[in-house]
Amino acid sequence: MTRSPADLRIPVRRMDFEFPAQLPKYWYRGNPWLTHFFNGMSAVFPDGERFFIDTVRNYQDQLTDPELKKHVRAFIGQEANHGKEHEAFNEQIEQQHGAPMSRIAKYVKGRLARMRRDLSKERQLAVTIALEHFTAILANQLLENPEVMADLEATYGDMFVWHAVEETEHKAVAYDVYQQVSGDYATRVRAMAITTVMFTVHQFAFMTWMVARDGKLGDLKGFAEMVRFLLVEPGPMRKMARDYLDYYKRDFHPWQHDNRALIGERVEEYRRKELRAAAA
Ligand SMILES: [Fe+2]
Ligand SMILES: [Fe+2]
Repeated sequence: MTRSPADLRIPVRRMDFEFPAQLPKYWYRGNPWLTHFFNGMSAVFPDGERFFIDTVRNYQDQLTDPELKKHVRAFIGQEANHGKEHEAFNEQIEQQHGAPMSRIAKYVKGRLARMRRDLSKERQLAVTIALEHFTAILANQLLENPEVMADLEATYGDMFVWHAVEETEHKAVAYDVYQQVSGDYATRVRAMAITTVMFTVHQFAFMTWMVARDGKLGDLKGFAEMVRFLLVEPGPMRKMARDYLDYYKRDFHPWQHDNRALIGERVEEYRRKELRAAAA
């Protein structure tokens, strides 16, 4: 498959999650390292997603395919809602537990502002599609291993799973825009190589900084558990290696990994909720 499935739906859902009033400081398995791994991701999402939206918007006027135009509007709607929900989460984590979410966000904002200033629009979009591939393959891991968030379904887990579902639905939108307006292979893979290093280094730095601020650097058991989680069981970083490398193929398209079956049940559940809300 070299293009998006013809019957693909990308619905924009307003979730308005209600988070519990109080959550443990180390909400993920009581482990400071793992908790800050997820906190670090959440801290960068809102500004990162605003960047994705803007880099796609730069080309919105040039699009002619009505289907792609529709998907772009849905992509923008989904990403805007992700930012909103993660911002609410980030605020709570910062207020209750002092995690420096807004400081990380401010730093990310500054870096993205420099990219907006220094990079061509084509290269900015190439960064977006690289990160969209990253989020899509991470999302795929989360959906393939639902037990990872199972204990947290009633709290923050739901938000991460919903985000993973929508990242899957819209995973090819920015990519399709890039193919239509540029399609340059060298720019695409160079952006991926650079983005991989930058993204990985930053996420590990954010996690380690937050752990250090909590005085937990000496928690070696937690550290070992985090390494085991990422690389061994469930091992998302190891398992996503092949999906990651596929990006470097000349004829790559995100829907060559057709994982719609993984979101089917969730999507039905959201749809039923929507219908109930509409009927009420
Ligand atoms: Fe998103
Ligand atoms: Fe996305």
